[in-house]
Amino acid sequence: MKFNVILIGFMGSGKSTIGKQLAKDLDMTFLDMDTIIQRNVDMTIHEIFTQKGESFFRNEERELSEKISSLKNLIVATGGGIVLQPENMEWLSKTGVIFYIKCDFDTIVQRIKAQKNRPLFSSNLEQFKDLFHSREHLYKKYTNQIVDVNKKSVKTLVDEIMQKIKIMG
Ligand code: S3P
Repeated sequence: MKFNVILIGFMGSGKSTIGKQLAKDLDMTFLDMDTIIQRNVDMTIHEIFTQKGESFFRNEERELSEKISSLKNLIVATGGGIVLQPENMEWLSKTGVIFYIKCDFDTIVQRIKAQKNRPLFSSNLEQFKDLFHSREHLYKKYTNQIVDVNKKSVKTLVDEIMQKIKIMG
């Protein structure tokens, strides 16, 4: 395919799960930005945030966004904070079409509350909800297509995205 497919959305919305299946079905290469950053730095996301700080992680994210903009035929799962730096979205949308994987807050909490590798998850749910709402308008701002994931299977979602991609040519 002559463009990349970029999946954005809040942590736990299913970007990686959907992206992996989509890449298989479309015979494209799957790239998970968090995985690449962990590999490049040789630390987990949690270690990067606690030992090097969030701004170090955001720099890594920015450099990787720039690199991705020169590649093709990728399905990219971004980290939930990709939209915090406008330049990331400029780079990624240069060669990519952006899909917002939209999931409701309660489903996200259910999915990620037991996981350990999400340093920005807060068990103070009021605080975590504020973060969720502060991101929503950014995902909407940068997306070309919204995909509502609630109560749909991965297969349904992948089919829905493939249909949208076909229409785009
Ligand atoms: C982040 C989301 C995480 C990861 C990092 C920061 C965020 O990615 O990049 O912990 O700022 O929302 P996922 O969306 O894959 O959890």
